Amino acid sequence: MEETKYQNEIAQLEQKFNKIDQNTKTHLEGLLWSKPITYWDYIQTDALLNLQIQRTTLPDEMVFIMYHQVNELLFKMILWEINQLCHTEKPTTEYFTEKLGRISRYFDMLTTSFTIMMDGMEPEQYLKFRHTLTPASGFQSAQYRLIEFASTDLINLIDYRFRATIDRNTPYSHAFEHLYWQAAGKDYQTGKKSYLILEFERKYKKNFLEFMEEYNTINIWQKFKQLPLQDQQNRTLINAMRHYDKTVNITWVMGHYYAAKKYIESDKTGTGEATGGSDWKKYMLPKYQRRIFFPELWTQEELDTWGENV
Ligand code: HEM
Repeated sequence: MEETKYQNEIAQLEQKFNKIDQNTKTHLEGLLWSKPITYWDYIQTDALLNLQIQRTTLPDEMVFIMYHQVNELLFKMILWEINQLCHTEKPTTEYFTEKLGRISRYFDMLTTSFTIMMDGMEPEQYLKFRHTLTPASGFQSAQYRLIEFASTDLINLIDYRFRATIDRNTPYSHAFEHLYWQAAGKDYQTGKKSYLILEFERKYKKNFLEFMEEYNTINIWQKFKQLPLQDQQNRTLINAMRHYDKTVNITWVMGHYYAAKKYIESDKTGTGEATGGSDWKKYMLPKYQRRIFFPELWTQEELDTWGENV
């Protein structure tokens, strides 16, 4: 072939296409006619900006929808990083800390941005459009649950009342029925599940059970325990782990609780009920739920007072 300044690139393309039995010339000709990329095609802005569909005429419903969508996008970014960290065979301490840093920064954004929604919607409008959302609830966010499954051993997500009856040999389907969040969707006297949770399980349970199994040995806590002992004592890494645990299980939970309280309690004439119908005042507080991803990294006193000093 005649010498060109692109000779090296052409050779690499040839190699790439040969590997998959493709004709390099055809692909180069295709390039001649391909459209140059634009910002809107690449970021898919048209699709993205067409996903905000109100159910009412109240303008602040748009804030509610979009803020939830922003949350789901950040949940996706978090899962993206967790997936990489947990599927790395032998992560170095630096890589581990770096990934946890990214994950925590995304969660920190969610935590510190609650006021955007809280101060961004008139309670009077919320009290009107919420009726069109019943019986849906953020409780039904699947990604939020995936983040939990991928972060810690299953036992740490089991309702405290049932922990003694569950261990690593318990079938996933049995453990599933005793996850802490079942309490929000089950009448414990009758055992009857609410429509909120029945629908949630109908859509995601199969996927959840597979994911629980996948992350059983590679969740963030397991990956930490698989590091060399000396690395497990690395102060920077331990601090990153503790920060993540606190952000997800105390700071976010409290930010969410205060938002829920402001809006639900602004209804002076209503029953104080949430759209999902849980006993939310008790259910949503970290000091009752005591959800802790990495209990071994906290002192006894910190565990005893979990969620109390906020
Ligand atoms: C005005 C705003 C909000 C209110 C009043 C509110 C209220 C509630 C309530 C009462 C629950 C308990 C289940 C139920 O009975 O529905 C809940 C659960 C939940 N909400 Fe919200 N929420 C709000 C905003 C958000 C936002 C922006 C997100 C972000 C995606 C979110 C995500 C969740 C999640 C993940 C749960 C389950 C938490 C758990 O099981 O501990 N919520 N919400």
